[in-house]
Amino acid sequence: MNWSDRLHSAIPGGAHTYSRGDDQYPVNAPPILARGKGAYVWDADGKKFLDYGMGLRAITLGYAHDAVNAAAIAEIEKGNNLTRASLTELEAAEKILSLFPWASMVKFAKNGSIVTTAAVKLARAYTGRTHVAVPAEQPFFTYDDWFIGTTAMDKGIPAENKALSLKFNYNDIGSLEKLFAEHPGKIACVMLEPATSVSPCSASCASMLTPNSCATCANRSTNFLHQVKALCKQHGAVFVLDEMITGFRWDLHGAMKVYDIEPDLATFGKGMANGFALAALVGKKEIMDLGGIRTPGAERVFLISTTHGSEMSAFGAFNKCIDIYREQAVTDHLWNYGRRLIEGLNDVSKAAGTGDHFLAHGFGCSPYYTTKDKDGQVSLAFRTLWSQELIKGGVLMPWVALSLAHSDAELEHTLNAARNALAVYAKALNDGVEKHLVGPAIKPVFRKHN
Ligand SMILES: Cc1ncc(COP(=O)(O)O)c(C=O)c1O
Repeated sequence: MNWSDRLHSAIPGGAHTYSRGDDQYPVNAPPILARGKGAYVWDADGKKFLDYGMGLRAITLGYAHDAVNAAAIAEIEKGNNLTRASLTELEAAEKILSLFPWASMVKFAKNGSIVTTAAVKLARAYTGRTHVAVPAEQPFFTYDDWFIGTTAMDKGIPAENKALSLKFNYNDIGSLEKLFAEHPGKIACVMLEPATSVSPCSASCASMLTPNSCATCANRSTNFLHQVKALCKQHGAVFVLDEMITGFRWDLHGAMKVYDIEPDLATFGKGMANGFALAALVGKKEIMDLGGIRTPGAERVFLISTTHGSEMSAFGAFNKCIDIYREQAVTDHLWNYGRRLIEGLNDVSKAAGTGDHFLAHGFGCSPYYTTKDKDGQVSLAFRTLWSQELIKGGVLMPWVALSLAHSDAELEHTLNAARNALAVYAKALNDGVEKHLVGPAIKPVFRKHN
């Protein structure tokens, strides 16, 4: 049996996470990885790839960062998970709260899904309401029923459960006003990512390539996020920012700092501890303390409470990461590298004659790319071709997650690989993408049938 067959016979989906699955990659992608260091990963045959997947965006400093690993190992030597709260957990709690002065309490967990679901539970407990609203354009908040029930993969989820989750449109405040009007007194919270590949500014944004363009923007304090917050306040709903992707990338203090906004609750995960399993729900005391045990007579909320949630290696890694972010201006590096990557890829694309079909865009700290066919339609077949050809050049780019370990040599390597890939892309625009694909096109994660 080959690697893929062995994986699929042992693990449903062939990998822990659907976005790690075979159907998300061209057939020439490494089917299994052995290790990572810095910006690189190695497959089972020892073949090296420059990586932009970065552990599903969890790695921000580079794989196997020596100082972070040493901090985690020091905690392992102390026992890793003790019978009561540890000194390391307290240090991590006080450290994360020092980043977000508007918040006074934090509850840690091992995955982002746990903290977003905990935010929903707290919001329901706080408001006594049932419904949740999220933007239709944002692809993922948790693997739990309240969200997955709203996707095409709703099998196994009772209809009454998914009926409680409502969708509005990002950057369209009217669509959220409509939800509040249609469900009076029902919406417990509004949860959204502050930004994705688009910014929350009502005016079209001239430049998302540098953090300062947002920090000095006239719309900074009146943008969509502020409109959502005002609406939540007006209707008594809890305002939740999910910073799973934006946190520790837009800024050490979150995208909320860039957009000058303070939520009631916020969730973090990826990027907190350079790949060690850690997520956090931070928030205002009046909501978070519903999960506490010190208010005599108060009805109790069973907030996150798990065996492995106190793992000290992850806290040690997080504490060290924060020091490194402060010492080495990590997010500035991400913004600078990403801006050069976006500009470089677009220059290469123009030179290859694919400028209208392959486009790099998004924020400097979080670039995206879009692949279009010859009619200008977004195309998964062309996305597959791009990935396939980059892999031939030793670059794995399922999406673009940057790290401190991506530097000048990596940028040059990427642009060289892109030059070759886009030469093939240009040919495929002329003579058909099927002629150049060596296997099936990648498929959307959220599809009803295999
Ligand atoms: C915006 C967002 N929220 C929540 C999650 C869930 O995090 P996790 O995969 O750690 O459960 C993800 C994961 O991709 C995410 O992108």
